[in-house]
Amino acid sequence: DAGAVELGGFPDYMSKEIHEQPAALRATLKDRLALDGTVSLDLAGQGLDLRGVERIVIAACGTAYHAGLVGKSVIERLARVPVEVAVASEYRYSEPVGDGKTLVIAVSQSGETIDTLAAVEAARGFGGRVLAVTNTRGSLITREADAVLLTHAGPEVAVASTKAFTTQVAVMQMFALELARVRGTLPEERLLELGRSLRLVPEKVEETLAALEGEYAERLAEAVEVFEDARCALFLGRGEAFPIALEGSLKMKEISYVPAEGYPAGEMKHGPIALVDERCPVVAVLGEGVVREKTLSNVDQTSARGANVICVARSDDADAKRLSRVVLPVPEAGGLIAPIVDSVPLQLLAYGVATSRGLNVDKPRNLAKSVTVE
Ligand code: G6P
Repeated sequence: DAGAVELGGFPDYMSKEIHEQPAALRATLKDRLALDGTVSLDLAGQGLDLRGVERIVIAACGTAYHAGLVGKSVIERLARVPVEVAVASEYRYSEPVGDGKTLVIAVSQSGETIDTLAAVEAARGFGGRVLAVTNTRGSLITREADAVLLTHAGPEVAVASTKAFTTQVAVMQMFALELARVRGTLPEERLLELGRSLRLVPEKVEETLAALEGEYAERLAEAVEVFEDARCALFLGRGEAFPIALEGSLKMKEISYVPAEGYPAGEMKHGPIALVDERCPVVAVLGEGVVREKTLSNVDQTSARGANVICVARSDDADAKRLSRVVLPVPEAGGLIAPIVDSVPLQLLAYGVATSRGLNVDKPRNLAKSVTVE
């Protein structure tokens, strides 16, 4: 209930919720991620035994689907279990394949999305086990699931999801660590190290916000300006940065109405590059490791065709600086930190573009906070 949550000095709920992310992440990690990096989710205590899981399906809608895509990548990388991510409205009618060794993870901020509930029902049809990841205690989905992992984001009022998304990602990451431990796919010491990296996420998000609203505020303003007469936009990333690019493009179209496509950077040359000109900004999430270089070379191809490029990269990334008009900096982020931290500049960018156009960011046209009828 929007009326019950105070704005506390923020101009709107979206801005408030973006700034609540450090606290929301802290609350979500609390009691689940120990100082030494040990994860304890108490799934066995809820009757969900991970030992027999051979396959995972993540079903969700909208932003929660993007959190699911990050989940797939981290679960497969750490726990070596095949994961399929399905849009719930498709999954429910797909005559899904599965058995008692299939775990269905339903991700839903509200816990009331009709298609996600139906996906859970479809999984029941083949005897699958169900884990719900939701922000809403006592919601319908918690009653349909074998086990529940709550995100502790607090009430999210703005239609465009921010803190619910980043806490969903943190839960997926903790789940991947837990599953990797159960399956013994990585040495204990490596898992603890990754767990400890995740503990740093709240302060890294704080740092990112402070930098983009302090030292680098002009860069953010310049990125917003690039969008002033944009006809469309391309959001690019690879690996775990790809779902973050998708989520960035969803935020942009939801609240600013700029037609925006999220695409895997390497696939862009098979279509979307045809859109590129000076009025179609390219927003690239570089990420880390080998994907960074590959994304940079894709970005280079777009700037060669006149694109105004905005890169989410480290502030000291000389290549990013050379190839782009604006670098939106994120702090050094090893281990599991990058997807959450990389989300923040894209939230602020969409927010900046929408408010610069005088739009109501909390209640964009045609959209509902939760979709409870089909
Ligand atoms: C609506 C909201 C989105 C949300 C989606 C799924 O489309 O506008 O922000 O991601 O529903 O909602 P859920 O509550 O299931 O996460």
